[in-house]
Amino acid sequence: MTIKIGIVFNYLQLPDVSKFPFVINKRRDGVFIRKGLFVYTKSNEGFLIGIIEKIVLLNEYFSDALTIKAYNNNNNPNILKGLFPSDDFEFAIAIVKCLGIIKFKDDKEKEISKIQRMTYPASPGIEVYLVEEELLNKFLGFDIEHGLNVGQVKVSNFNAKISMDRLLNKHFSILAISGAGKSYLTSILIEELITRDSSFGTPAIILIDVHGEYSYLKDLIELKDKVKIQDISYFQIAVPNLNEYSFKKYQEQISNVQIRELAKYIKKLKKDDKKKGKYTLSDILDIIENESDGNKSTKQALIGWLSELDHLTLFGSQENPSLNKIIHKQEILIFNLQKEISIRKKQIIVDYICSRLFYLRRMNRIPPFLLIVEEAHQFCPEAAHSKAISKPIIEMIAREGRKFMACLCLISQRPKKLSTTALSQCNSKMVLNIKNPYDLKHLMDSSEAITQEYASMISSLGVGEMLLMGNAVNYPAFIDIRERKYKPQFEDNSLAQVCLKWQNK
Ligand SMILES: Nc1ncnc2c1ncn2[C@@H]1O[C@H](COP(=O)(O)OP(=O)(O)OP(=O)(O)O)[C@@H](O)[C@H]1O
Ligand SMILES: [Mg+2]
Repeated sequence: MTIKIGIVFNYLQLPDVSKFPFVINKRRDGVFIRKGLFVYTKSNEGFLIGIIEKIVLLNEYFSDALTIKAYNNNNNPNILKGLFPSDDFEFAIAIVKCLGIIKFKDDKEKEISKIQRMTYPASPGIEVYLVEEELLNKFLGFDIEHGLNVGQVKVSNFNAKISMDRLLNKHFSILAISGAGKSYLTSILIEELITRDSSFGTPAIILIDVHGEYSYLKDLIELKDKVKIQDISYFQIAVPNLNEYSFKKYQEQISNVQIRELAKYIKKLKKDDKKKGKYTLSDILDIIENESDGNKSTKQALIGWLSELDHLTLFGSQENPSLNKIIHKQEILIFNLQKEISIRKKQIIVDYICSRLFYLRRMNRIPPFLLIVEEAHQFCPEAAHSKAISKPIIEMIAREGRKFMACLCLISQRPKKLSTTALSQCNSKMVLNIKNPYDLKHLMDSSEAITQEYASMISSLGVGEMLLMGNAVNYPAFIDIRERKYKPQFEDNSLAQVCLKWQNK
């Protein structure tokens, strides 16, 4: 059903190519015309779609100072109102920002073939209509049947069902200040992905959970079969999977001479039939110590570096968990790093996970996956801020992952501290509230779609509101994020409640 809402007219040098004003019809059917609504009209070029940017209320009667004075002087304004129906003089004008001309594939106007830029203004006198749900979905590029339901498009209140293919095709990021709802939104995306119909096709999800916020997913009866939590205390890197350069990555100070020496020992161990390809760091240390030839000081230095690595208790003869066995389609594997304090250890773990996942995916030994990295600025920082062991591999997945269907989701509260290389590859962005002007500027630099106007809107978003932009949608859209279906048992405990419950153990 098409709902007529007004007529285009001339107002302050408008309409022009980018904007048109219309007089809003007085209505009694409860349709409330507000800022942010999507509307359309038929211009010379075709179907012109736009968004209401501003509403102005005008009343000729009150535009004259003398009238106001008379109105005020009268002791009982109701008498004057009765004599003169000033309400009838009021009318509302909406200013619409034009977004594009929709071209349909055929006359039935069912499928959009493309969205063009406007080159000619809307004509005064033509009708303006409200965009219906079906058309809005097509215009924004949502997937009504198989999409991920994250909430509702602001003001229009239609479901926002993001197309999974479009979102995961080119990586995405979730950015906002602390407490704006990044993790909450992530849990909604996880809900949608692991509970959608298996016939739709869904990748595996791997989540680097820095604060242990997602462990509750395992406690829910509806989800528990699809959720695996990997406590990091049992995490083990398979030493036979590492070459000499991996060690240099983990222990930067190892010199090139020492690397060459180390390569010799690794080769020897690999050939050792007794070991059957299974050896640990202590085996490498043993062989270095017992070998008679080789430069003594080089060997001593190597022993020093490798023993230090051994102390991290991360290295063993086999990988745990065994990544090529534990990753399945439409299931989530959560690495809980909550108990780990050492940032270096966390980076080594993340580096190993990412490297292995990318390798296994390239070899097609695991299904397409979505790798979600919480607090991504800790693992992939911009060079000016700090160095991180895991940065090169995350940047590599950001650059090349798409070709192998390895999708990345970077979550961060400090976009400025996040690697620009990685961030600029995150084509879709879910931006919640960001206040810091440096972070906003950095965002604007990394994505041309974020204009000054959007930046000021981003800084005034509330909890549960986001701006979705990039490859996932044809046009940036503001969305009210829905409530999550599956909740942790102890959600939203206030500080006072936690203090009351807390007891010395
Ligand atoms: N869409 C929403 N609806 C209702 N409550 C929400 C919504 N989004 C966030 N919240 C609430 O806001 C609070 C903070 O959310 P969340 O933990 O996701 O923030 P965050 O951005 O991940 O913060 P941090 O950067 O510190 O990790 C939570 O208590 C959550 O319940
Ligand atoms: Mg969080």
